[in-house]
Amino acid sequence: SAVDAQALLRGHRIVPVYTPGGVEEAVAVARALLAGGIGAIEVTLRTAVAMDAIAAIARDVPGMKVGAGTVLDLAQLRDVQRAGASFAVSPGSSAELLHGAVDLGIAYLPGVATGSEVMAALAAGHRLLKLFPAQAINALELLAAWRGPFAHARFCPTGGIDAALARDYLRQSNVACLGGSWLTPADAVRAGDFARIQHLAREAVALAAD
Ligand code: 3PG
Repeated sequence: SAVDAQALLRGHRIVPVYTPGGVEEAVAVARALLAGGIGAIEVTLRTAVAMDAIAAIARDVPGMKVGAGTVLDLAQLRDVQRAGASFAVSPGSSAELLHGAVDLGIAYLPGVATGSEVMAALAAGHRLLKLFPAQAINALELLAAWRGPFAHARFCPTGGIDAALARDYLRQSNVACLGGSWLTPADAVRAGDFARIQHLAREAVALAAD
């Protein structure tokens, strides 16, 4: 059966989505987030260094759960597991990923935007789903509408969410966690302003605790 992603991410209400520009940068970003109180990160496979960045965080930042994002096929899923990712996230899903995650024994958050996608994910045993792209699909209303028919599904809305919107999402009973890139702004990352990232993490943790 599927690895319980909800149990793995319990207590991690905010999961920053970060696209790494380098391995040392990634380790510094993960340390800053952790210092700000955040214990899980999604590193997207959108740059050539992403796989090494995942491995470096898994090895060098104890206490940080590192996941891989933008996982588009089974080969990538295998590779991120080998690199040390403890969970994987996709912007959508496919049969090979839904079943491959179960076979490989890695916690997996498939992306969903429609009821049929939720049904396919649930049928494969996945209970924590990335609701993406949240702001573009009116996710707050979807979450309310899906509470009845998909009572056992939990969601991690991501896409267009920032600190100002986070509270409204976190208030929904079927939201387990939130994803977003607002905690790792490109200008701060490239400038090496890790103090700002730590501050953004602290702010996000505080609003998740409200
Ligand atoms: C993702 O892949 O999850 C998104 O790029 C993150 O969304 P955001 O950048 O709008 O927060």
